[in-house]
Amino acid sequence: MRDQAEKLRAMARSLKQQIASELGRGLEHTRVIAVTSGKGGVGKTNLALNLALALAQKGLKVTLLDADMGMANIDIIMGLVPEYNLYHVLRGEKSIRDIMLTGPFGLKFIPGGSGIQELANLSEDELARVVAELGRLDGESDVLLIDTGAGIANNVLAFVTAADDIIVVTSPEPTSLTDAYGIIKVAAARRARGTIYLVVNRVGIEAEGTLVAHKLTTVAQRFLGVEVAALGSVLEDEAVERAVRSQEPLLVAYPGSPAARGVRAIADRIIAASFEDKTAARPGGLRSFFRSLTGFLR
Ligand SMILES: Nc1ncnc2c1ncn2[C@@H]1O[C@H](COP(=O)(O)OP(=O)(O)O)[C@@H](O)[C@H]1O
Ligand SMILES: [Mg+2]
Repeated sequence: MRDQAEKLRAMARSLKQQIASELGRGLEHTRVIAVTSGKGGVGKTNLALNLALALAQKGLKVTLLDADMGMANIDIIMGLVPEYNLYHVLRGEKSIRDIMLTGPFGLKFIPGGSGIQELANLSEDELARVVAELGRLDGESDVLLIDTGAGIANNVLAFVTAADDIIVVTSPEPTSLTDAYGIIKVAAARRARGTIYLVVNRVGIEAEGTLVAHKLTTVAQRFLGVEVAALGSVLEDEAVERAVRSQEPLLVAYPGSPAARGVRAIADRIIAASFEDKTAARPGGLRSFFRSLTGFLR
């Protein structure tokens, strides 16, 4: 019994050392963006995938991580059938590089796993292992985009707390908005280091998105003292559902659709906000991401 505990502690120590050594390397150039939501089913995964593709199409090197632990499904809407996923990384059978796939526009994709209880209930040490593995992506991308699960589970918060940019996705529905406020509140309480952005998905007209965003940012400002920046909205568009059904990304199957145009506008704004705004002088990149994650895991 004691042997087992000591072994686990040693494992945790070596993981922390691994992460610490990642900190010493030149990781400051990868921008880490977490896409999250309070409620599920609001379009988070579709936004994460298509935003990643839009950024890749603009010439950035982008890695997309499916971190909806245990319920990952980006591979499905990309029409890919990955042989291995994060579960194999967790078990030490594969490295991140082994499981990485290449999608349209050179997008790198790291598949999560679906229907795997172990992934849904990651211990902190297991999460640390996945994170340490991510550290091996040193210098490979300009952007690491993460599709987290919905809600406030520990692994979601770990990614949200550590990211440079946090994109909260909501629909205009009151339930979705309340849950978006909830995740912003928890992120603030956890002292998330990144800028919090808001995307309103499935709006009827653009003005609806503007109105909803205004409401939520005002409430967050007033009651939480948190600045949330509106990134824009994506129209309700049947092309999204058609793309999902045909298992092709929206930006590939229907690049001229209203929803695709909305996603590309959001990509432009995130580039402007996080790459071009020199006044934002925040330390960024995988280095700070790992520092925060280790802090979170401690
Ligand atoms: N802008 C949109 N217009 C129309 N339908 C959408 C839109 N965004 C999402 N959907 C629908 O919602 C479903 C769930 O989206 P998904 O990205 O899987 O949500 P989440 O990851 O938040 O659970 C999609 O399969 C699609 O049918
Ligand atoms: Mg999803």
